[in-house]
Amino acid sequence: MEPVVIPAILAKSREELLRRISQVNGLVKEIQLDIMDGEFVPNRTIGMDDLAAVPALQNAKYEFHWMVKEPEKWIAKVPGPHLHLVHVETIRSFDAIENAVKKSGGRLGLAINPETPLEKLLPFASKAQRILIMTVHPGFSGQSYITAMEKKIRQLRRKFPSIDIEVDGGVNLDTVRGAYAAGANVLAAASAIFAADDIKAAIDALKARALGGAPS
Ligand code: DX5
Repeated sequence: MEPVVIPAILAKSREELLRRISQVNGLVKEIQLDIMDGEFVPNRTIGMDDLAAVPALQNAKYEFHWMVKEPEKWIAKVPGPHLHLVHVETIRSFDAIENAVKKSGGRLGLAINPETPLEKLLPFASKAQRILIMTVHPGFSGQSYITAMEKKIRQLRRKFPSIDIEVDGGVNLDTVRGAYAAGANVLAAASAIFAADDIKAAIDALKARALGGAPS
């Protein structure tokens, strides 16, 4: 499967959100928005009010990474053809999540933290369009990639040969090849992209490195 690189935006204000979006809009087909409520993870990003007016993208879609205790409430705030990555650790009623996503016109994705066993996710996996294997403990960007997660990626890829498997956390030129070789075809990155002088070149370099080639 062709590697897809997705910029991850962890914004604490509407201004920062709009600035980050403008830096990558037009360069990629998907933009990940990290949403943290300070309860599920020890950090807080933009909240529901800021999401109300997230700008429409020309030729791209949003992927919302819900690091929040009650994802169904947040999903209802952002109708549209978005992908919603819901943490299995926050599922109280899977039906409620599924209904919220359907009602919003979006698609369901699932996310799983490093310490959560894959078995916790398997009962819902067949209903997901994408599965995110966290390669850091969520809450902050700039953390180190947990290589041990590649075992989890390989296990999942063996069970689901054609599903989208995403990694997020510490993905950069040193780690992206291992993640892709283990079976992740969607590669989310924040620091490796937004800390670069040339954002387009950084995105292209991650894709080239995933495929095993040196960045051009
Ligand atoms: C977990 C977030 C990640 C994080 C990635 O904290 O879900 O998206 O911001 O940041 P980098 O790519 O810098 O590790």
